[in-house]
Amino acid sequence: MKYSTAATALLISAAAAAPTIDYTPPGGWESIKYPDGTGENLHEYPAPPGGWENVKYPPGTGENLPYYPPTGEAPKDCPAPPASPFKFTSTYHVVATPDQVVNGTTPTGGLEGAQGFYDLGINSDLDLICWSIKLTGFRGDYSSPADTATHIHEAAFGASGPPRIAFPNPVGNEQEAVSYGCQVGPFVTGLEGPDGNDTGLGFKVAEIEANPAGFFADVHSSLAVPGAVRGQLA
Ligand SMILES: *[C@@H]1O[C@H](CO)[C@@H](O)[C@H](O)[C@H]1NC(C)=O
Ligand SMILES: *[C@@H]1O[C@H](CO)[C@@H](O)[C@H](O)[C@H]1NC(C)=O
Repeated sequence: MKYSTAATALLISAAAAAPTIDYTPPGGWESIKYPDGTGENLHEYPAPPGGWENVKYPPGTGENLPYYPPTGEAPKDCPAPPASPFKFTSTYHVVATPDQVVNGTTPTGGLEGAQGFYDLGINSDLDLICWSIKLTGFRGDYSSPADTATHIHEAAFGASGPPRIAFPNPVGNEQEAVSYGCQVGPFVTGLEGPDGNDTGLGFKVAEIEANPAGFFADVHSSLAVPGAVRGQLA
């Protein structure tokens, strides 16, 4: 069928003006069998003992939502949550700065204007580490011979040392880039040490807990290959 532009415009305006659907199924609406529990036969669901008004909804759902104060404070009769299977045996809050970056033992100055905030949680029983990393003022490309350019290295303040854990590089822009997640050992950095093994081989997060001053967090940039920022874990 062919329509002229005017006829098409008329059809569109007619459709917009008449949104109701005029349809009756064969046999009429009364003949339709709805699946159990839907539509017409909902009234066949008997009310629970005491009636619908007396149903106690689980906290946080349905009828009693207004009882949840916006502060997040639980109501008095709220049952205590089950004990969490997850816990950290230690946590670290590291502020990484350019001035702490060294190559060997020579300060390099890092990447001026950059900063790193590394919030780390360790469960040494599970050999688990979780991280929330935020970089500000990071520029250039991530640059490292390891799998990623965001690491925990083993070395004392003022000295270089091998990466033991590689985190996914933060994603974002120069104002703010973030990375978060958790990983469990065995750890792989993708960097071969002098013995030919991956520098993460055999590493356990318990070693960090035993001597946090012997480890630092950092990130490497193409504009500051030895490190853009660095922060000692203790
Ligand atoms: C590293 O590799 C060497 C062989 O090159 C091996 O003897 C050594 O045990 C390895 N180190 C670890 C920590 O597994
Ligand atoms: C670190 O210092 C060594 C020795 O001075 C030098 O050969 C190397 O290029 C430096 N590394 C970087 C990434 O600047």
